[in-house]
Amino acid sequence: MNIGRVFVTRRLPQVAFDVLREAGALVTIGQLLDDAPVSRELLLGGTRGADVLLPLLTERVDREVLEANERLRGVANYAVGYNNIDVAAATALGIPVSNTPGVLTETSADLTWALLLAVARRLPQAHNYMVTRRYKLWGPNLFLGEDVSPGGSGRRKVLGIVGFGRIGQAVARRAIGFDMDVLAYDPYARDVIEGSALATWAELPELLERSDFVTLHTLLTDETRHLIDADALARMKRTAFLINAARGPVVDESALVQALREGRIAGAALDVYEHEPEMAPGLAELPNVVLVPHIASASRETRDRMAIMAATGALAHLRGERAPNVVNPEVYESDAWRARVEAAGVR
Ligand code: GLV
Ligand code: GLV
Repeated sequence: MNIGRVFVTRRLPQVAFDVLREAGALVTIGQLLDDAPVSRELLLGGTRGADVLLPLLTERVDREVLEANERLRGVANYAVGYNNIDVAAATALGIPVSNTPGVLTETSADLTWALLLAVARRLPQAHNYMVTRRYKLWGPNLFLGEDVSPGGSGRRKVLGIVGFGRIGQAVARRAIGFDMDVLAYDPYARDVIEGSALATWAELPELLERSDFVTLHTLLTDETRHLIDADALARMKRTAFLINAARGPVVDESALVQALREGRIAGAALDVYEHEPEMAPGLAELPNVVLVPHIASASRETRDRMAIMAATGALAHLRGERAPNVVNPEVYESDAWRARVEAAGVR
């Protein structure tokens, strides 16, 4: 039985295709090369030929794409973040948008901590020193870093978490083992923070001023774009570190390079970039950064679960059913959605 066609923009873990095909979906894959982007023509053409679109965060699904096919019954994003999709346009057009929340929470929190520890203790620099065979003699000044736990000074370090959703909370849980004091700021979760034993509420300026480590876990929205700008960086302690495994544009990356260059903060560890995959000029040359290519959710198990979740969302869209994780659930009350489902004859 053929239940409709899904356009998957790029290669995903095999399990996504297994789930789709076993349910009777026809699958078209856009770009087979792992290091080549999906061109605009391919994205538009593939969307026109399908009933459901399954994009990655590398594809910009704007109004033009959503309008390219009046039969389109849903978008199943292979990511928890959905700033790559014009959700308002999708809602207006009657198109549900699903994502992959929850499954990548712990994996992303792990990477956040890996970055935090790596930048505080200068792990990449030390590793590089070894593999370039520069280690000649042990000495007390080799790769001096900063304590994360109370360590030598006995002072409890302050972790500032901006964005206290699933991932921010998972990061906070891990701080217990390091005897840290945790501050959190999230205007959408003030009650969660105030009711939590894991963190203490702080307004953003106070959080920036008091934290030894500031870590970002917000969605990218108009409100969070450049939330960490030159002014915010100027509030941070000179000894503090910034960690960003959320979305690049939450930080003004040029301002960050400037602050790092001038020693106005101690260091930064980044998983995401403002103009990904590009880096701001000078960033890669700095001695006090740790840089990785957007791998927060990159564990084998989690990427498989994301694939199953995205495929499950796509199947629900195909069948005209409510998908389990929809970022615009109000769409299901709209005539525009009902009209799309009725035109497809799936319900
Ligand atoms: C990764 O960045 C995601 O949003 O899933
Ligand atoms: C993502 O899953 C978040 O809510 O932080």
